[in-house]
Amino acid sequence: MAWYSLTVDVPEAESELVQSVLYDYGAAGLEVRDSANKTVATVRAPGAGEAILIAYFEDKEDAANAQVEITERIPGSRFALEDVVERDWSTEWRSQIKSVTIGRLWVGPPWEKATAPKDKVCIFVEPKMAFGTGDHPTTSLCLKAVDTFMATHEGASVLDVGTGTGVLAFAAKKLGAGRCVGVDNDATSVELAKECAQENGIDGVELSARTLQDIEGQFDLVLANILANTLVELAPLIAPKVKQRLVLAGVLVPQAEEVTAAFVAQGLEHAGNEIIGEWIRIELTA
Ligand SMILES: C[S@@+](CC[C@H](N)C(=O)[O-])C[C@H]1O[C@@H](n2cnc3c(N)ncnc32)[C@H](O)[C@@H]1O
Repeated sequence: MAWYSLTVDVPEAESELVQSVLYDYGAAGLEVRDSANKTVATVRAPGAGEAILIAYFEDKEDAANAQVEITERIPGSRFALEDVVERDWSTEWRSQIKSVTIGRLWVGPPWEKATAPKDKVCIFVEPKMAFGTGDHPTTSLCLKAVDTFMATHEGASVLDVGTGTGVLAFAAKKLGAGRCVGVDNDATSVELAKECAQENGIDGVELSARTLQDIEGQFDLVLANILANTLVELAPLIAPKVKQRLVLAGVLVPQAEEVTAAFVAQGLEHAGNEIIGEWIRIELTA
């Protein structure tokens, strides 16, 4: 739909009157810049003692008629009547979502299904409210570790703590994991992860909001992409779950030492790090 904006510069004392005229003529929305409404640095500010009113109209004629009426009532008002270039916000954000290729894996949004590479293991993630579309450095760091581990551990059991969209668990499953469990303390994430599993035709990943105490057994690969302080807190619960390898992310480089120490204190051995930008992945072995 086309929109029109009528910008009016008037003495601030007349602002209220002009606002009511604009509404009378059918303005659907109004922005006011005056001494009471601080103007951000990137837009034009009102002159001394003046206000700027920007009214949005569906009908250009209504805007033009409002201009005539305001001119009659407050001679000297200055106007600009412009077409508003409308942006489709419902789809524009999609252009911000990038697909990633990491080793044998490709992770991207569902609308790229047709163009996704045929020679990769593809996971489609609808970016809604859960974390884990693949393009965040912490997720990428974990996906790389999953690809590396699964290359030599066919049938490995995998636990993904803080599963978000489920992307890491799905990657492991698609690369040949056996038992595969994803947990998240956020119920919405678990629901979205379940939807995402369906979308990808993935069966057999146990997704729930269970606590670590409620999960039986140990896992060849344990993944935890959560924030540093949570990892430190959860170290006594995560460490006993590790049969072979633990991959930690969500950690900023300066936090690495503290996080590593918390897991070494639980009897694990430091096995290496990888850094992307300010983020670090820490690996430990049982
Ligand atoms: C950074 S996201 C990681 C999502 C996904 N695993 C990835 O790598 O992209 C962290 C997730 O951990 C979850 N989380 C935070 N604290 C948690 C806890 N104590 N137990 C389980 N999950 C937790 C959050 O709800 C969030 O979904």
